[in-house]
Amino acid sequence: MSWYSGVPTYDTVLAAALAFALLVALLAPFVPSPYGRFASDRFGFGLDPRLGWLLMELPATVTFLFFFFRGPHRDELVPRLFLALWLCHYGNRGFFFPLSIRTPRAARASFSVMVMASGWVVTSLHGYLNGTWIASLGHYPTGWLADPRFLVGLALYAGSLALNIHSDAIVRNLRTREEVAAGKKVYRIPTGGLFRYVTSPSYLTELTAWTGFAICTWSLAGVFIFAVSAANLVPRAFSTHRWYRERFPDYPTERKVLIPFLL
Ligand SMILES: NC(=O)c1ccc[n+]([C@@H]2O[C@H](COP(=O)([O-])OP(=O)(O)OC[C@H]3O[C@@H](n4cnc5c(N)ncnc54)[C@H](OP(=O)(O)O)[C@@H]3O)[C@@H](O)[C@H]2O)c1
Repeated sequence: MSWYSGVPTYDTVLAAALAFALLVALLAPFVPSPYGRFASDRFGFGLDPRLGWLLMELPATVTFLFFFFRGPHRDELVPRLFLALWLCHYGNRGFFFPLSIRTPRAARASFSVMVMASGWVVTSLHGYLNGTWIASLGHYPTGWLADPRFLVGLALYAGSLALNIHSDAIVRNLRTREEVAAGKKVYRIPTGGLFRYVTSPSYLTELTAWTGFAICTWSLAGVFIFAVSAANLVPRAFSTHRWYRERFPDYPTERKVLIPFLL
């Protein structure tokens, strides 16, 4: 199949990846990924979430670096800048986030291996498609730095990443170290930052970050990671909103699910 880049292997994998995103969109509304507050032993063996996250995200870094450094454009300025964005993103999501979450004893086996295995499909495809596109098949001359798509996409990406890290930090700090050391799995209502407006600001900013990435790389590899993330996170945001409302009678009624003032 050669319908996009003209390279049959790449285009076939890209088509399969987009079909996988569609499959996730069809299934995710019925089965929330079994980890965290939706953990379930129906899906088999569970890992410590810190290990689960680390292993699940690792292929995004490894495959991207592998394919990036094989590419003929690997030493050019704009591809190098995309490499820096990638390392920022996965330095946070792949290493800082898993190592900093607060996991009490009661939640030590709550990350289903099924989540990790399906996550591997996504993170491997994501690393391959973007690493290959950016360093081999795409064309990013230095003039791309002045292109409005690059500038708008980069601004959206950077602002979203900062807000995503901030939202993750608010949630992390809801549990004190003492509670975690005592083995207590405590949930509280998050407040402040974008939580004033929506229940799932981390998901909102994850999706706007990948939108920015897709715009600044102007590629279907970028569209893939946005699509598969949206397929997973939009239904999870609705389930999370319902979960808070059922669990906390005093949950703020004006707080929306995912999009401030709208949804
Ligand atoms: N691109 C993608 O497809 C994708 C997919 C998933 C996640 N992500 C990103 O990964 C990040 C984490 O997502 P997530 O779904 O794991 O988020 P999460 O549900 O917010 O969980 C993160 C951590 O905070 C704890 N926690 C959550 N709510 C809490 C509360 N009310 N009180 C106390 N502790 C609480 C969780 O503990 P427990 O584990 O014990 O519940 C977990 O340790 C987000 O930035 C998200 O955007 C991206």
